Amino acid sequence: MRLPPLSLRSKLILSFLAVIIIGGLISLVVGRRLIRNTLIGQAQLKVNHDLASAWMVVNEKLNDIKDIVSLTASRESLHEAIKTGRREILLRYLNRVRTQYRLDILTLTDTRGRVIIRTRNPEVVGDDQSGDEIVRRALQPNILAFPQIVPREELLKEGADLAEQAYLEFIPTPKAAPRPENKETSGLMLKAAATVIDENEALLGVLYGGILLNRNYEIVDRVKEIVFKEEKYKGLETGTATIFQGDLRISTNVTDQEGKRAIGTRLSEEVKKAVLDEGRSWNDRAFVVRDWYITAYEPIRNVENKIVGILYVGTLEKPYLDTANRVMLTFTGLAFLCVLFLLVILYFATSSIIQPLQQMVAATQAIAQGDLDHRVEIQSRDELGDLASSFNQMIEKLKAANEELIKWGTTLEKKVKERTAELVEMQAHLIQSEKLAGLGKLAAGIAHEINNPLGGILIYSHLLLEGAKKDSPEYENLKKIVKETTRCKNIVKGLLEFARPKEPEMSPTDINDTVHRALSLFERQALFQNIQIRKDLSELPKIIADGAQLQQVFANIIINAAEAMDGSGVLAIKTSLDKASNLLRVEFSDTGHGIKEEDMPRLFEPFFTTKEVGKGTGLGLAISYGIVQKHQGSIEVKSEVGKGSTFTVVLPLTRDLPHE
Ligand SMILES: Nc1ncnc2c1ncn2[C@@H]1O[C@H](COP(=O)(O)OP(=O)(O)O)[C@@H](O)[C@H]1O
Ligand SMILES: [Mg+2]
Repeated sequence: MRLPPLSLRSKLILSFLAVIIIGGLISLVVGRRLIRNTLIGQAQLKVNHDLASAWMVVNEKLNDIKDIVSLTASRESLHEAIKTGRREILLRYLNRVRTQYRLDILTLTDTRGRVIIRTRNPEVVGDDQSGDEIVRRALQPNILAFPQIVPREELLKEGADLAEQAYLEFIPTPKAAPRPENKETSGLMLKAAATVIDENEALLGVLYGGILLNRNYEIVDRVKEIVFKEEKYKGLETGTATIFQGDLRISTNVTDQEGKRAIGTRLSEEVKKAVLDEGRSWNDRAFVVRDWYITAYEPIRNVENKIVGILYVGTLEKPYLDTANRVMLTFTGLAFLCVLFLLVILYFATSSIIQPLQQMVAATQAIAQGDLDHRVEIQSRDELGDLASSFNQMIEKLKAANEELIKWGTTLEKKVKERTAELVEMQAHLIQSEKLAGLGKLAAGIAHEINNPLGGILIYSHLLLEGAKKDSPEYENLKKIVKETTRCKNIVKGLLEFARPKEPEMSPTDINDTVHRALSLFERQALFQNIQIRKDLSELPKIIADGAQLQQVFANIIINAAEAMDGSGVLAIKTSLDKASNLLRVEFSDTGHGIKEEDMPRLFEPFFTTKEVGKGTGLGLAISYGIVQKHQGSIEVKSEVGKGSTFTVVLPLTRDLPHE
């Protein structure tokens, strides 16, 4: 699956978010463990202390019993009664002590350990208690107090109710170690014994007493009262204490589902192994009856240092876990708020990065569409600001380059146009030259063939004319023959001139002077009487040219102008110097009838004339063209029908010509 493209902002925010979330999750997990471990560690320490307090209560009780038994045993009245064998008094007295100090049993034996007085069950006497380790040691003589397992037959001797009190059927308990039996008939007792000795150090017997711990809640409730006060958590007792006989709860304030004391339930196998089998203490969490507790267990040992039971205190784990969770929840909430806050900051921070970028993108688009005047306006004094200013510089350069290019384009276009025009002109010239060359050959052939016969005709007609009388009719006819023949001769001469032009004889020539001489040929002629001639001659350097030939060119142009004006009008002659192009111009403008557009291309063709037969030969401009071409010059024509024409002879200036 392909993801949709993400904007820069989303990418930035997402990567930040990823870091925050991953970091947050890690710190949550680590933090949760840390808080739990710290809190539970603290609780465990407290529970360890509580167990010590519990031991104090137990030992206090044990000492109480020991004190009662030993003090009673040292009473002289007791000694007297024993010595005198007054059983009635003994029984009454000892029974009072037992009930007064709330002992379960108080029994007196003789010097061999046989029971003399059994205050709880006076009927049963005479049995031998010397097998009992505590009694045996008290006979040594000694005063001692220890917890002790008391079998059912011994309990029965002390009273059926006591045996009944000890009797407990096992309640099936999850996690408990399996046991073959399903009930407990013996009991666990705190038992003290003291030797009875008179003032003469004579052994009189042993007095022993004790309390049965099974179903006796005095100690556990006292532990709870001292250690945990009346603390409760959601209706549950937080602090609990238990006395185990083996792995069986015989006295506890741990409650079961129905809220009753959970006696008859058993220890979890795990703890049993550690404490009962291996004799270690257990300080850890443990599942107790129906909840997890932070617990401390230590073995209870009898007089032979054998483990007979366990003392336990524990506090409910739940309040601590809840506290840890509450802390975590607050922490998470706070972290979440921080993330939100961060996101807001991030949003604005990314804006300050993205907005300039967007501007930049917009600028690029504008530029792509040809708006080279677009500029990015970013004032920020950071990398983005730098980028923007370089960007603007780039556009500036782009714009300059573009303008340069456009300029180049236009000049190039202009140049191409110019060159094309030049080419067209050159081509036209070429065609003209070729035409002229072809026609020239033809004309030369004809002219050559008819020149000699014409010469003959002219000579003979002159001779005839000399011989003829002036008033004879032949005379006039002969005169006409001579005139027309002369005209033919002139045409042929022109033809020959055109066809085989003479090589120009080049010498330094003053063009203004040449113009003057050309004009002077006609000034007196009738055709020019009504023509106003305006001269505008500028100072010109001499050029190397054939003055006679150029004079002929100018004369041809002047005659054409006069003919075009039909004898009246203005002929303006202007010479000018074009130093830049290294040229000089001779311009002849008339106010004649002008030249039709279609005639323009043919003007310089030989025999092209618009004049009536006998008037024009059409050779004037053709010959002139040839001469000017030999001078590396050209003839330009401008004309407007009805207004006039301008013929301009353009000649190159000769370089290296010394100025006078
Ligand atoms: N100044 C001018 N004004 C009008 N037409 C002219 C002028 N000069 C030359 N022409 C035209 O050019 C033609 C050719 O001239 P050209 O070669 O001198 O021969 P021609 O003068 O014998 O006709 C003329 O017949 C005329 O039509
Ligand atoms: Mg002419």
